[in-house]
Amino acid sequence: MDIRDLTADDLDAVLDIRKRAFGPISSGNADIWRQMVGPLLSEGRYIGVLDGPRLVATSRINAYTQWWHGRPLSMGGVAGVTVAPEDRGRGIGRTIMRATIERAAELGHVASALYPATTPLYRGMGWEHAGGLNKITLPTEALRTLAAGDARAAGVKLRRMGPDDAPELMATMARVYALTRASGPLCYDERTWRLWLADDDDFCYIADDGFVIYRWSGRDIEVDGCVAGSEATTRALWSLVGTASSVAKSVTAVIEPNDPVLWLLRERSNEEIRQTRWMFRLIDLPAAVARRGFPSGVSLDTVVHVEDPQRPANSGSWRLEVSSGSGTATAGSGDGPTFTVGGLSALFAGVPTATLRRTGLVTGGSAEDDEALDSAFHCTPYMIDYF
Ligand SMILES: CC(C)(COP(=O)(O)OP(=O)(O)OC[C@H]1O[C@@H](n2cnc3c(N)ncnc32)[C@H](O)[C@@H]1OP(=O)(O)O)[C@@H](O)C(=O)NCCC(=O)NCCS
Repeated sequence: MDIRDLTADDLDAVLDIRKRAFGPISSGNADIWRQMVGPLLSEGRYIGVLDGPRLVATSRINAYTQWWHGRPLSMGGVAGVTVAPEDRGRGIGRTIMRATIERAAELGHVASALYPATTPLYRGMGWEHAGGLNKITLPTEALRTLAAGDARAAGVKLRRMGPDDAPELMATMARVYALTRASGPLCYDERTWRLWLADDDDFCYIADDGFVIYRWSGRDIEVDGCVAGSEATTRALWSLVGTASSVAKSVTAVIEPNDPVLWLLRERSNEEIRQTRWMFRLIDLPAAVARRGFPSGVSLDTVVHVEDPQRPANSGSWRLEVSSGSGTATAGSGDGPTFTVGGLSALFAGVPTATLRRTGLVTGGSAEDDEALDSAFHCTPYMIDYF
């Protein structure tokens, strides 16, 4: 079996294995898929396992920026993981994931995330459950009235977006995610945004400190993302969606776990939030710690021991220090808790040590270590984009 970069000549075989893995794809969607993945090929972002001339497995690494406590880092979003049906159950899934980790590191990603269709494959390779994509259904009429009587919301200038607005959208996201000290949300590269913003079935509006992207879904509305940096813009964007209330009775929206809209709604009692989980893995431990934001009031100086069989550069003893909102991981020594790489990845993503201890992902160390680590890494990570 060979592992190599896929090329344009492989795309028919990739589409075939993809259909066998995820089901049929319409010819329109296959065209969009070709446009999306075409440029990734020459960047070494689509790899395959081949048995002679036959493609038996694939994996793709999308280039994303992901915010952690308001600071951006380079994240490889893994997607399109497939093994041909007749080759499954023989370790090829693990083989392609091992190669994916190496490639993500070569591409300069300090971390990786993925939406798992099944957990054991990825857990065995160091990814661990970290955050969620949260979807809620809200009455459209309740959104319509959110800006009523609010002069500031009435003054928010909303502008329609097209492909040329991609850079402004990306800059707005960066500002709002820094301002809100967001953990988890990602931003595509400009090329991908240009493709999405060209879809005329999507209604995309931008303000100085926010944006909304929504579309029809039957007779109802689906919001892909509504992100705002202030109360006035939160009211203005959600009430824009709410203007559909004469036709659409409900809006299904991807939201932050503590989305301000939930506090602006006049009524809130029982609510159902559907969550799609994503998993996270550190690729370059010291670089990821150096780029993550931390609460500015927290200080940490703790040694942790890390076991990462797939990426030995992460293994060993690390002194984690945090002060004034920034962190470092340097070679350390001394007593401290021992984490699997999945455990440390989950801690990085805010999973409490109390959970990690009771799942065996961390052992040893003291209660003081746990408390200090929890206060530094605490966050409730989310994404609003599925990939
Ligand atoms: C999921 C998939 C990639 C696994 O490939 P594979 O070559 O069979 O995987 P491996 O033989 O390397 O197995 C690796 C681990 O995953 C587990 N695994 C494999 N398929 C699984 C499944 N369908 N459900 C649960 N666990 C599974 C194996 O048991 C093994 O775990 P273990 O070592 O703890 O026993 C393959 O079944 C596939 O292409 N499925 C359809 C598409 C898909 O779901 N892709 C993942 C999208 S996120």
